[in-house]
Amino acid sequence: MPDIAFVNDVFLPLSEARVSVEDHGFQFGDGVYELIRVYAGRPFHLTEHLDRLEQSARAVAISVPYTRERWTALVAEAVSRSRYPEAKVYIQLTRGAAPRDHVLASPVLPTVVLTVRALVPPDPVLYARGVDVVTVPDIRWAWCNVKSVSLLANVLAKQQAREKGAFEALFVRDGQVLEGATSNVAVVRDRVLITPPEGPLLLSGVTRKVVLTVAQQAGVAVKEEPLTEADLSTADEVLLTGTTIEVLPVARVDGRPIGAGAPGPVTRLVMDCFRRALA
Ligand SMILES: Cc1ncc(COP(=O)(O)O)c(C=O)c1O
Repeated sequence: MPDIAFVNDVFLPLSEARVSVEDHGFQFGDGVYELIRVYAGRPFHLTEHLDRLEQSARAVAISVPYTRERWTALVAEAVSRSRYPEAKVYIQLTRGAAPRDHVLASPVLPTVVLTVRALVPPDPVLYARGVDVVTVPDIRWAWCNVKSVSLLANVLAKQQAREKGAFEALFVRDGQVLEGATSNVAVVRDRVLITPPEGPLLLSGVTRKVVLTVAQQAGVAVKEEPLTEADLSTADEVLLTGTTIEVLPVARVDGRPIGAGAPGPVTRLVMDCFRRALA
Protein backbone atom coordinates (compact mmCIF):
# COMPACT_ATOMS: atom_id res chain seq x y z
CA MET A 1 0.00 0.00 0.00
CA PRO A 2 1.38 3.50 -0.77
CA ASP A 3 0.55 6.57 1.39
CA ILE A 4 -2.15 5.47 3.79
CA ALA A 5 -4.65 7.01 6.13
CA PHE A 6 -6.67 5.92 9.12
CA VAL A 7 -9.85 7.94 9.65
CA ASN A 8 -12.17 7.18 12.54
CA ASP A 9 -11.32 3.49 12.82
CA VAL A 10 -10.83 2.66 9.12
CA PHE A 11 -7.59 2.24 7.15
CA LEU A 12 -7.70 3.34 3.52
CA PRO A 13 -5.45 4.82 0.81
CA LEU A 14 -4.63 8.45 1.65
CA SER A 15 -6.15 9.64 -1.64
CA GLU A 16 -9.53 8.23 -0.55
CA ALA A 17 -9.50 9.61 3.01
CA ARG A 18 -12.27 12.11 3.84
CA VAL A 19 -13.54 14.09 6.81
CA SER A 20 -16.73 16.13 7.06
CA VAL A 21 -16.66 19.80 5.97
CA GLU A 22 -18.38 20.41 9.29
CA ASP A 23 -15.43 19.07 11.23
CA HIS A 24 -14.27 21.55 13.87
CA GLY A 25 -10.69 21.08 12.68
CA PHE A 26 -11.70 22.28 9.19
CA GLN A 27 -14.11 25.01 10.35
CA PHE A 28 -12.20 26.46 13.29
CA GLY A 29 -8.70 24.99 13.35
CA ASP A 30 -10.03 23.31 16.49
CA GLY A 31 -7.69 20.39 16.93
CA VAL A 32 -4.24 19.20 17.91
CA TYR A 33 -1.65 17.10 16.12
CA GLU A 34 1.67 15.28 16.18
CA LEU A 35 4.26 14.38 13.58
CA ILE A 36 6.40 11.36 14.30
CA ARG A 37 9.46 10.26 12.36
CA VAL A 38 9.93 6.59 11.53
CA TYR A 39 13.51 5.33 11.12
CA ALA A 40 14.03 1.80 9.75
CA GLY A 41 10.40 0.99 10.50
CA ARG A 42 10.59 2.19 14.12
CA PRO A 43 8.75 5.31 15.36
CA PHE A 44 11.26 7.69 17.00
CA HIS A 45 10.39 8.66 20.60
CA LEU A 46 6.74 7.70 20.17
CA THR A 47 6.09 7.89 23.92
CA GLU A 48 7.15 11.55 24.04
CA HIS A 49 4.96 12.38 21.04
CA LEU A 50 1.95 10.63 22.60
CA ASP A 51 2.63 12.40 25.91
CA ARG A 52 2.58 15.73 24.06
CA LEU A 53 -0.57 14.80 22.10
CA GLU A 54 -2.36 14.06 25.37
CA GLN A 55 -1.07 17.29 26.96
CA SER A 56 -2.18 19.36 23.95
CA ALA A 57 -5.63 17.72 23.92
CA ARG A 58 -6.04 18.19 27.67
CA ALA A 59 -5.08 21.88 27.42
CA VAL A 60 -7.91 22.55 24.94
CA ALA A 61 -10.40 20.07 26.43
CA ILE A 62 -10.54 17.68 23.48
CA SER A 63 -11.12 14.15 24.70
CA VAL A 64 -8.58 11.55 23.65
CA PRO A 65 -10.54 8.58 22.37
CA TYR A 66 -7.79 5.93 22.53
CA THR A 67 -5.68 4.46 25.27
CA ARG A 68 -1.91 4.64 25.07
CA GLU A 69 -1.82 0.97 24.08
CA ARG A 70 -4.30 1.60 21.26
CA TRP A 71 -2.31 4.56 19.86
CA THR A 72 0.89 2.55 20.00
CA ALA A 73 -0.68 -0.43 18.25
CA LEU A 74 -2.31 1.86 15.70
CA VAL A 75 0.94 3.59 14.78
CA ALA A 76 2.68 0.20 14.51
CA GLU A 77 -0.07 -1.17 12.27
CA ALA A 78 -0.09 1.96 10.09
CA VAL A 79 3.69 1.84 9.64
CA SER A 80 3.63 -1.84 8.83
CA ARG A 81 0.76 -1.43 6.34
CA SER A 82 2.61 1.40 4.57
CA ARG A 83 5.80 -0.68 4.34
CA TYR A 84 7.83 2.56 4.28
CA PRO A 85 10.96 2.07 6.40
CA GLU A 86 11.57 5.86 6.42
CA ALA A 87 8.29 7.60 7.01
CA LYS A 88 6.40 10.35 8.80
CA VAL A 89 3.29 9.57 10.78
CA TYR A 90 0.86 12.46 11.19
CA ILE A 91 -1.84 12.27 13.86
CA GLN A 92 -4.64 14.81 14.03
CA LEU A 93 -7.27 14.90 16.70
CA THR A 94 -10.11 17.41 16.40
CA ARG A 95 -13.17 18.23 18.50
CA GLY A 96 -15.34 16.41 15.94
CA ALA A 97 -17.97 17.12 13.30
CA ALA A 98 -21.15 19.05 14.14
CA PRO A 99 -23.36 21.76 12.58
CA ARG A 100 -21.23 24.90 12.47
CA ASP A 101 -21.25 26.67 15.79
CA HIS A 102 -18.32 27.71 17.97
CA VAL A 103 -19.79 25.73 20.84
CA LEU A 104 -20.92 22.13 20.37
CA ALA A 105 -24.70 21.85 20.93
CA SER A 106 -24.21 18.30 22.19
CA PRO A 107 -21.19 16.07 22.69
CA VAL A 108 -19.73 14.43 19.56
CA LEU A 109 -16.93 11.96 19.08
CA PRO A 110 -13.56 13.57 18.33
CA THR A 111 -12.20 12.95 14.83
CA VAL A 112 -8.99 10.93 14.57
CA VAL A 113 -6.94 11.13 11.39
CA LEU A 114 -3.62 9.35 11.05
CA THR A 115 -1.55 9.32 7.87
CA VAL A 116 1.71 7.67 6.88
CA ARG A 117 3.79 9.06 4.06
CA ALA A 118 7.30 8.33 2.84
CA LEU A 119 9.87 10.63 4.41
CA VAL A 120 11.88 12.61 1.90
CA PRO A 121 14.78 14.05 3.93
CA PRO A 122 15.93 17.63 3.35
CA ASP A 123 18.65 18.13 0.73
CA PRO A 124 22.08 17.12 2.19
CA VAL A 125 23.45 20.42 0.84
CA LEU A 126 21.47 22.23 3.55
CA TYR A 127 23.36 20.32 6.24
CA ALA A 128 26.71 20.84 4.53
CA ARG A 129 26.31 24.60 3.99
CA GLY A 130 23.76 25.70 6.59
CA VAL A 131 20.51 27.49 5.85
CA ASP A 132 19.24 31.07 5.85
CA VAL A 133 16.67 32.11 8.43
CA VAL A 134 14.77 35.36 8.85
CA THR A 135 13.27 36.86 12.00
CA VAL A 136 9.56 37.75 12.06
CA PRO A 137 7.28 39.28 14.70
CA ASP A 138 5.50 36.58 16.70
CA ILE A 139 1.79 37.16 16.06
CA ARG A 140 0.75 33.76 17.44
CA TRP A 141 -1.50 33.20 20.44
CA ALA A 142 -0.17 32.69 23.97
CA TRP A 143 -0.37 28.87 24.13
CA CYS A 144 2.38 27.96 21.71
CA ASN A 145 3.20 24.91 23.85
CA VAL A 146 -0.05 23.38 22.57
CA LYS A 147 0.55 21.66 19.23
CA SER A 148 -2.57 23.15 17.69
CA VAL A 149 -3.65 22.71 14.07
CA SER A 150 -4.38 26.48 14.02
CA LEU A 151 -1.17 27.27 12.18
CA LEU A 152 -2.05 30.39 10.21
CA ALA A 153 0.71 32.53 11.75
CA ASN A 154 3.22 29.73 11.16
CA VAL A 155 2.10 29.33 7.53
CA LEU A 156 2.46 33.08 6.92
CA ALA A 157 5.86 33.18 8.62
CA LYS A 158 7.16 30.24 6.59
CA GLN A 159 5.81 31.82 3.43
CA GLN A 160 7.62 35.07 4.28
CA ALA A 161 10.82 33.11 4.79
CA ARG A 162 10.48 31.38 1.41
CA GLU A 163 9.81 34.69 -0.35
CA LYS A 164 13.11 35.97 1.08
CA GLY A 165 14.93 32.82 -0.02
CA ALA A 166 15.21 31.55 3.56
CA PHE A 167 14.49 28.08 4.94
CA GLU A 168 12.89 29.09 8.23
CA ALA A 169 11.34 32.06 10.04
CA LEU A 170 12.21 32.65 13.69
CA PHE A 171 9.51 34.18 15.87
CA VAL A 172 10.52 37.19 18.00
CA ARG A 173 8.21 38.43 20.75
CA ASP A 174 9.09 41.37 23.03
CA GLY A 175 12.71 41.10 21.92
CA GLN A 176 12.90 37.36 22.72
CA VAL A 177 13.76 34.84 20.00
CA LEU A 178 11.50 31.88 20.75
CA GLU A 179 11.48 29.25 18.01
CA GLY A 180 11.02 28.68 14.30
CA ALA A 181 7.72 28.30 12.45
CA THR A 182 8.32 24.53 12.38
CA SER A 183 11.42 24.08 14.55
CA ASN A 184 13.15 24.96 17.80
CA VAL A 185 16.24 27.14 17.78
CA ALA A 186 19.50 27.09 19.73
CA VAL A 187 22.70 29.10 19.61
CA VAL A 188 26.28 28.29 20.54
CA ARG A 189 28.35 30.85 22.42
CA ASP A 190 31.82 29.99 23.74
CA ARG A 191 31.03 26.29 23.08
CA VAL A 192 27.88 26.44 25.28
CA LEU A 193 24.62 25.36 23.63
CA ILE A 194 21.85 27.75 24.64
CA THR A 195 18.16 27.37 23.84
CA PRO A 196 15.10 29.24 25.16
CA PRO A 197 13.46 27.52 28.14
CA GLU A 198 10.22 25.57 27.82
CA GLY A 199 7.07 27.54 28.59
CA PRO A 200 3.82 28.71 27.01
CA LEU A 201 5.54 30.69 24.23
CA LEU A 202 7.19 27.78 22.46
CA LEU A 203 6.62 24.14 21.63
CA SER A 204 8.58 21.66 23.73
CA GLY A 205 10.18 19.91 20.80
CA VAL A 206 10.91 16.21 21.06
CA THR A 207 14.04 16.73 18.97
CA ARG A 208 15.07 19.70 21.18
CA LYS A 209 15.07 17.40 24.20
CA VAL A 210 17.01 14.63 22.45
CA VAL A 211 19.56 17.19 21.24
CA LEU A 212 20.07 18.61 24.74
CA THR A 213 20.65 15.08 26.04
CA VAL A 214 23.08 13.96 23.34
CA ALA A 215 24.97 17.27 23.52
CA GLN A 216 25.45 16.89 27.27
CA GLN A 217 26.54 13.28 26.83
CA ALA A 218 29.14 14.50 24.34
CA GLY A 219 30.51 16.95 26.92
CA VAL A 220 28.85 20.09 25.54
CA ALA A 221 27.59 22.46 28.26
CA VAL A 222 23.89 23.20 27.83
CA LYS A 223 21.81 26.12 29.10
CA GLU A 224 18.09 26.81 28.82
CA GLU A 225 17.94 30.61 28.87
CA PRO A 226 16.03 33.33 27.03
CA LEU A 227 17.65 34.52 23.80
CA THR A 228 17.53 38.09 22.54
CA GLU A 229 17.88 39.14 18.93
CA ALA A 230 21.41 40.36 19.80
CA ASP A 231 22.24 36.89 21.21
CA LEU A 232 21.16 35.44 17.90
CA SER A 233 23.04 37.78 15.60
CA THR A 234 26.28 37.65 17.62
CA ALA A 235 26.21 33.87 18.29
CA ASP A 236 29.15 31.73 17.24
CA GLU A 237 26.69 29.18 15.79
CA VAL A 238 22.94 28.87 15.34
CA LEU A 239 21.03 25.64 14.76
CA LEU A 240 17.48 24.43 14.28
CA THR A 241 15.97 21.20 15.58
CA GLY A 242 12.83 19.36 14.50
CA THR A 243 11.37 15.98 13.65
CA THR A 244 11.95 16.15 9.89
CA ILE A 245 15.07 18.34 9.84
CA GLU A 246 16.78 16.70 12.85
CA VAL A 247 19.68 19.12 13.56
CA LEU A 248 20.14 21.76 10.86
CA PRO A 249 22.90 24.41 10.91
CA VAL A 250 22.03 28.05 10.25
CA ALA A 251 24.51 29.98 8.09
CA ARG A 252 22.84 33.39 8.01
CA VAL A 253 20.20 35.28 10.00
CA ASP A 254 18.43 38.07 8.10
CA GLY A 255 21.19 37.91 5.50
CA ARG A 256 24.06 38.33 7.99
CA PRO A 257 26.54 35.46 8.41
CA ILE A 258 26.66 33.59 11.72
CA GLY A 259 30.29 32.88 12.67
CA ALA A 260 32.06 31.91 9.48
CA GLY A 261 28.73 31.57 7.67
CA ALA A 262 29.11 27.77 7.64
CA PRO A 263 28.25 24.95 10.09
CA GLY A 264 30.37 25.36 13.22
CA PRO A 265 32.18 22.67 15.25
CA VAL A 266 29.60 22.29 18.05
CA THR A 267 26.74 22.03 15.57
CA ARG A 268 28.63 19.41 13.59
CA LEU A 269 29.35 17.46 16.79
CA VAL A 270 25.68 17.59 17.82
CA MET A 271 24.54 16.56 14.32
CA ASP A 272 26.87 13.62 14.53
CA CYS A 273 25.73 12.59 18.02
CA PHE A 274 22.07 12.90 17.02
CA ARG A 275 22.55 10.61 14.01
CA ARG A 276 24.42 8.11 16.17
CA ALA A 277 21.53 8.15 18.65
CA LEU A 278 19.27 6.91 15.83
CA ALA A 279 21.25 3.74 15.28
C1 LIG B 1 6.41 25.59 16.19
C2 LIG B 1 7.28 24.37 16.30
N1 LIG B 1 8.31 24.38 17.16
C3 LIG B 1 9.12 23.32 17.30
C4 LIG B 1 8.94 22.17 16.53
C5 LIG B 1 9.88 21.01 16.70
O1 LIG B 1 9.27 19.99 17.44
P1 LIG B 1 9.69 18.46 17.27
O2 LIG B 1 11.14 18.39 17.54
O3 LIG B 1 8.88 17.76 18.30
O4 LIG B 1 9.34 18.08 15.87
C6 LIG B 1 7.87 22.12 15.65
C7 LIG B 1 7.63 20.90 14.88
O5 LIG B 1 6.71 20.80 14.11
C8 LIG B 1 7.00 23.23 15.53
O6 LIG B 1 5.96 23.22 14.70
